[in-house]
Amino acid sequence: MDDKELLLLAEEIKKNSYSPYSKFRVGAAVLMKSGKTYQGVNIENASFGATVCAERTAIFKAVSEGERKIEAVAITSDSDELTFPCGICRQVIAEFGDENTRIICANNRGEFKVFKLAELLPNAFIF
Ligand code: THU
Repeated sequence: MDDKELLLLAEEIKKNSYSPYSKFRVGAAVLMKSGKTYQGVNIENASFGATVCAERTAIFKAVSEGERKIEAVAITSDSDELTFPCGICRQVIAEFGDENTRIICANNRGEFKVFKLAELLPNAFIF
């Protein structure tokens, strides 16, 4: 699975975003080292702090199925700008990825740039 194919999975799932408060739909897809992929969307809540980002939905689906190692994560939204993972999601990617984990950040036209985790979260905290 290449980066463009992973992004297509993120774009496909975005329609399921539950975002009545922000109206900001996000879709994500994660490729695990096993070769399996998992899709996720942001899921908001009336108690805003209970909201979960699309990246963490996808990653937690994978981890709860027994997966542990991330190869790449793709993220997209309805924005004209590239969508980047928030700080909490970067930390979660660090937990299950490594400095070379690819993060594919896309806009609403399917244009994307690929970053390594080390670029987006230098000196990550690992326990
Ligand atoms: N959101 C994500 O799903 N991923 C990110 O990396 C950034 C933010 C969601 C959370 C919330 O539902 C909406 O975008 C606005 O912050």
